[in-house]
Amino acid sequence: MTLFNDQPRLREIAPGAFHFPAWLSLNQQQTLVRSFHEWSVGPVPMRSATVRSGYQMSVKTVCLGWHWQPYKYTRTADDVNGQPVAPFPEWLGDIARSVVADAYGRDAAVRYQPDAAMINYYDDVAKMGMHQDRDELVNEPVVSLSVGDTCRFRFGNVTNRNRPYTDIDLKSGDAFVFAGASRFAFHGVTKMFPHSAAPACGLECGRINITMRVTGKT
Ligand code: SIN
Ligand code: MN
Repeated sequence: MTLFNDQPRLREIAPGAFHFPAWLSLNQQQTLVRSFHEWSVGPVPMRSATVRSGYQMSVKTVCLGWHWQPYKYTRTADDVNGQPVAPFPEWLGDIARSVVADAYGRDAAVRYQPDAAMINYYDDVAKMGMHQDRDELVNEPVVSLSVGDTCRFRFGNVTNRNRPYTDIDLKSGDAFVFAGASRFAFHGVTKMFPHSAAPACGLECGRINITMRVTGKT
């Protein structure tokens, strides 16, 4: 027995960036999968966004709270069907606050009020190029949850898309959070590992990623 038995297992990947393996319970994962099926059909259906170069992302996304389209947040999904985006549920914010508490302490968690969630779905061949999360007006932590198949996640530096970076396998139930000196680090998903998840997570195939942020918008 160690003194720190209650501490979640965590790994600091870069200053202020933490990986928590197996952070979500199976029950939480199944709840997120059920919610995903509801969120993905509307009021704004899940879609692949088209980025500035005209490239259509391989990842499909549906948003809560604020709709993200390259490269802004709006209350209506003007690039999809013009409908108001579904509200950001408080229970999802509570999960994010627990991750923030484990990474940065209770005071940081009490202050943390995410107002936007991006629900990303990766099929067997989807990837996400190296990018920064920088459409927010404030510098608050980004919390990310993974359910379903494992992916290879690349967490880099704040200067460019190249080395130094760290490759981590994000598995079903893992949490990742970045803030402070790493808040504007480039990151992306380089590959999926199809059929790697245990069926008990509730997702038949692919991977769900839920990323929560504070937009700083009113
Ligand atoms: C993202 O950066 O928006 C998603 C990262 C992930 O899928 O883990
Ligand atoms: Mn991102």
